[in-house]
This record gives sequence, structure tokens and C-alpha cells, in this order.
Amino acid sequence: MPRLWIETVGCQMNVLDSELVVAALRRQGWDLAGTTAEADAVFYNTCSVRQHAEDKVYSALGRIRLEKERRPGLVVGVLGCMAQKDQALVRSRAPWVDLVVGPGQLHRVPLLVEAIRSGGGPQVEVALGRTAGSRAEIARSFESYDPDRDPTMRPNPFQAFLRTQTGCDKFCSFCVVPHVRGPEQARAPDTILAEARRLVAEGCREITLIGQTVNSYAWSDGGRTSRLADLLGRLDAVDGLDRIRFVTNYPRDMTADLVAAVRDLPKVCPYLHVPAQHGSDAVLARMRRGYTIGEYREMFAMVRAALPHAAVTSDFIVGFCGETDAEFQTTLDLVRESGFKNSFIFKYSPRPGTKAFQRQPDDVPEGVKKERHRVLLDAQTEVSRAGNQPFVGTRQQVLVEGLSVRDEKREAAGAPPSADGSAQLTGRTRCDRIVVFDAPLRMVGRLVDIDIVTAGPWSLGGLVAEPAAAAGDPASPSGGDRPQQLHAIRLPTAGSLGRGE
Ligand code: SAH
Ligand code: F3S
Repeated sequence: MPRLWIETVGCQMNVLDSELVVAALRRQGWDLAGTTAEADAVFYNTCSVRQHAEDKVYSALGRIRLEKERRPGLVVGVLGCMAQKDQALVRSRAPWVDLVVGPGQLHRVPLLVEAIRSGGGPQVEVALGRTAGSRAEIARSFESYDPDRDPTMRPNPFQAFLRTQTGCDKFCSFCVVPHVRGPEQARAPDTILAEARRLVAEGCREITLIGQTVNSYAWSDGGRTSRLADLLGRLDAVDGLDRIRFVTNYPRDMTADLVAAVRDLPKVCPYLHVPAQHGSDAVLARMRRGYTIGEYREMFAMVRAALPHAAVTSDFIVGFCGETDAEFQTTLDLVRESGFKNSFIFKYSPRPGTKAFQRQPDDVPEGVKKERHRVLLDAQTEVSRAGNQPFVGTRQQVLVEGLSVRDEKREAAGAPPSADGSAQLTGRTRCDRIVVFDAPLRMVGRLVDIDIVTAGPWSLGGLVAEPAAAAGDPASPSGGDRPQQLHAIRLPTAGSLGRGE
């Protein structure tokens, strides 16, 4: 039986794509390899959002080269966004790569692997560029990849990502995603609902809807348009499902009806990832984000009024083209004032093919970017710490996800399990706060009430509130707090590449 090793870099879309590619190959008789040395195929599912993510993949390709020299029959594949962005360049930099497949061609992977293994030589399959044809032609060349799911291939069987749409049409000037993931294309609501029901039948309790701008979702059928709020209403009625999350939101599409749906639908978690990217109107205009900071603040105030306890999170870019000290200060002010539960902070990385790359010099020195990153992260850390403090003394319902980072490391280092079968576990509240506590491993996958006793900036610590036998009743949501972030779920097959930072 041939064996596959896959490493995934980047966002939750890639995590889902890897899950689906592995499931498709398993249906063709493949199994998973424990190491690259045992594998008949080694795939890297790649990210192009920042240079650093690409560098990691080229380093990994350098490491696999020796293995390929020893075993020429090994199939080395580069999948995903870098494959689409760099295409032939991947093979000229790393000629030992056999397979280059963009995110719009993943359905072809099993066939292409067979072609290589039966002597057909290297295979490259990518979609059209964003100016290479009519919108319809380009859209057709990016096929949504949604084959049957396989619960054993998920990071855990009780949580799943579910794609609502592919691609992005916003074209922020810094961002490569619309170029590598193609035009925005929604999936039909009935298809999404059917997939959700199947996931639940397989034991899934929490679904995270994913789209580059998930709240731009629109599906028109017979004169009626379904939006994300409609979709959430239908998903909320699915029996057996406990929690629904959705990422990532585009600020301008955060409409009042969507916020009302989050407020009124009991399974929809009050966690909203709505990246601001910057605090200054001038920079937002250079970024082509399509809103002013005043409009962002209005959106934020609307969310706060309707959902006072919701967790709102953001992404920020520091050191974007031409960013002055005064402009950076506006981002710092926004972070200090807004109370984001957490923010992902990135140093600007120029991306070939984007408008910013073509027209705006990357003129903020690396040292300044680093310093602004540090200052903003320090500010966010204090805001996050203050935001977590009020949870001490409350009872929170968490979905138990698995071993804590500490116990995972212990397990990886070969430490024996504790005699009573308990371990340090981690779970998330409805509003995506990480909670760490000691409990028996059999609680993984259950909803459990935890009494919170400690709070740090990035997690809470607590004690199981009920006897284990009673825990996990899905009909007892507790606590004022509700949901999640695009947590860096690792596939069971994944190696060490991690998020594409
Ligand atoms: N819509 C996507 C966002 C894609 S990229 C989503 O689902 O999250 C994720 C984040 O990376 C962006 O919000 C932005 O903050 C950051 N980013 C994108 N392009 C970047 C670049 N060229 N340099 C630095 N950070 C970037
Ligand atoms: Fe990128 Fe902007 Fe779309 S950040 S994914 S172009 S909304």
C-alpha cells in the first residue's frame, strides 16, 4: 500500500484542502506515512501570503532533495497557493519536484500522482491568472474542491471546517490571495447544508464556516439571494450540531442582520474575526481596503451594542509602504481602545503580482517593522490580559479539544501517561478563549463546564465543574461567553511547518 506524507502551511483553507487531498488518496488505496523516509509521496500544501511562508517551503524542499536522490520513485509535490503563484518557477528552483498543483486543481491530484508513478514525468496543473481571460473563464479554471469528507482525516472528529466560498474579489493592494485563489465563488446553500448534516452524522459538534471574506457570501437562485445570515439560520436548525463559527469577516460586509443572527441563533458563537489591518485612513486607502477607520469604528460599535460579550479579533499589518510614525500611532491607538480579544500582527511582506508591489515602494526599514511589531504586540498583550481577567470566578462551557501544549510536548518526549488517565487538556469557550485544565482524556470531544481560576493574556486556567459522568451534555450551554479563531489545527499527518507567518 503506497504511503503519503503531507505538510501544511498557512490558513484554515489549506488545512481543509489537505484533509480532502488525503481523503481522496486514501480512497485510491493510499495510507499515511509516519515519516518522510517511509513515504512514497511527500506533499507540501503551501501559502504565499508572506515571503516567510514561501521560504519555509523552499527549505523543506531542500531537505527532501536527498531523499529523492536516494529514492527517485518518491513523488515530491507542491500544492496550493505557491504552486499557483510560482508555477514553473517551483520546478526551476527545485527540479526534483514532480507535481505542482494550484488550489483550483486539487481534484486532479490522484490522477496526476498515478501519471507520475506510471512514468508520465512531472505534472503541473494550475488555473488561469486573474487577467488571462473573461471572469467566467477564470472562475471555471478555479474549481471548488469539495469531495466526500473522511472523519478520520480531520484533526479531530468533532470539529470541522466547511467551505462556503472560494476565492476573493476585494483585491487589497498588499494581498496575493485574489491572485492565487481566484474569483469569489459561492457554494450553493443546499450543498453546504447537506455537507453539514453529513459532518454531524459522523460525530461533528462544531463547524467553522470558512471563506476569505465569509460574510460577503451571496448565492442567487430564482431571484432570491441567500446571505451568510440566512445560511446561519438554516445551520442553526441542524440537530446534533452544538457550535457554529465563521471566519474571516470583511468589515464592510458586517451588516446589522448578520450581527442580529449571531445574537439570536443559539448555536452561533459570538466570536467575530474582523481584520481592521490599520488605524489610519491614509494607509487604509493605500491598502485599498474600501473603508475608513471611522466606518470600521461604527461597525465595531454596532457589534458591541448588539453583542456586548462577543469576542472581536483583528489582523494588523505594520510597516506597510510609506507608513509614518504618526500613522503607526493610529493603529496603536485603535488596539488600545478597541478591546480586541487578540490580534494577529504581521510585518508587511511585498508580494509580486499585487498592486502595492507594482506601485508602492517597500520603504519601511526591516528594523522599524520589527520594532513596530513588538510595540503593537506588547499593547495587544496588555489588552488581551485585561480582557481575560474578568473571567476569573466565572463558569465557562468549553469544547475539549485535546492535550494542552505542555502535555503534548511531554507525550512527544515519551513521558508515560499518568496512572489515573488524567492529563492537562485544552478546550475553547464559545467566544474562542483557550482554557487549560486537568481532566481525564476521555473528555476530549465533549462540552464541559469549567470554573475559571486563572487568566493570562492568551489563555484561562480552570477546574472541571461537574462530575465527569455528567459532563458533555450538549443541551446545557453555560456562561455568558460564546466563540473561535482560525486556530492552527495540525493534521494528524502534518510535520513541522505550521502557520505561514
Ligand atoms: N481573508 C483571509 C486573509 C488572508 S491573509 C483570511 O481568511 O484570513 C491573512 C492576513 O495576512 C491578512 O488579514 C493580513 O493581515 C495579512 N497579510 C496579507 N497579505 C500580507 C502581506 N503582503 N504582508 C503582510 N501581511 C499580510
Ligand atoms: Fe486578501 Fe483583502 Fe481578500 S486581505 S483575502 S484581498 S479581503
